[in-house]
Amino acid sequence: MLVPTMGALHAGHVSLMRRARRIAGERGRVVVSIFVNPAQFGPGEDFSRYPRTFARDCKMCEEAGVDVVFHPEASEIYPEGFSTYVEEERISRGLCGASRPGHFRGVCTVVLKLFNIVRPDAAVFGEKDYQQVAIIRRMVKDLNAGVKIVAAPTVREGDGLALSSRNVYLSEEERGQAHVIRRALQKAHDAAAGDLAGIVRREIAKAGLARVDYIEVLDAETMERPGKGTREVVIACAVWFGRTRLIDNVRKKLCKSENG
Ligand code: PAJ
Repeated sequence: MLVPTMGALHAGHVSLMRRARRIAGERGRVVVSIFVNPAQFGPGEDFSRYPRTFARDCKMCEEAGVDVVFHPEASEIYPEGFSTYVEEERISRGLCGASRPGHFRGVCTVVLKLFNIVRPDAAVFGEKDYQQVAIIRRMVKDLNAGVKIVAAPTVREGDGLALSSRNVYLSEEERGQAHVIRRALQKAHDAAAGDLAGIVRREIAKAGLARVDYIEVLDAETMERPGKGTREVVIACAVWFGRTRLIDNVRKKLCKSENG
């Protein structure tokens, strides 16, 4: 079992590790990779200031029953002369892929490399990064990677804010407003039907410090625009609070009368 991470571990990561531990059973092995992957950060993004808490991370891994922590140097993953990248070309286009060009190329490349190095039967990813899981599933299918992908639910703070290594960037005032994201998504989830993105947008606008990057409603299975066959949608958004960009999503089952 493999749980790929960029470190700065929190209870969300721990839930993935525990899931991996359960699936692996007593005899299987759980590997956690900790690698702040330069290839998935754009110029001007937070690569250099991304939190690095390796000693603490190792302790959390141990407590969660992890057998191996893989913590490579950037030069091991991207040695001189490195020139091969993996690019998913459809699901990657929208949402975070539109705001962060090259991001998912970096994610796919490092994840496939981790699969090739660790050779796990299965890997656990968080649904918080819904688009990321969809892209990795696609990549595994398209390139016959032979790794089972397990998706685990989002772990949240008491007020609903999804745990993220980036939450430490938030000022006290921003942190006080950031739970608006969950509230807005929940409101759209609970609404009968109609303009779900509009519901989210209006609710988020109530937080003075929030600046919407995107709000999208897609077929949760195909990641395409919802159509006649859509049974479930994912409502996904990215919101800036100051210099910090937060993402979250919720899935919503549709009644027959709501689609198409
Ligand atoms: P990172 O942001 O460290 O996340 C590692 C894994 O933890 C991802 O699968 C992510 O979806 C999951 N995760 C993050 N926050 C979570 C939460 N609140 N609840 C549950 N799971 C959560 O995602 C990456 O790193 C990188 O892109 C990576 C896949 C490691 C490739 O570099």
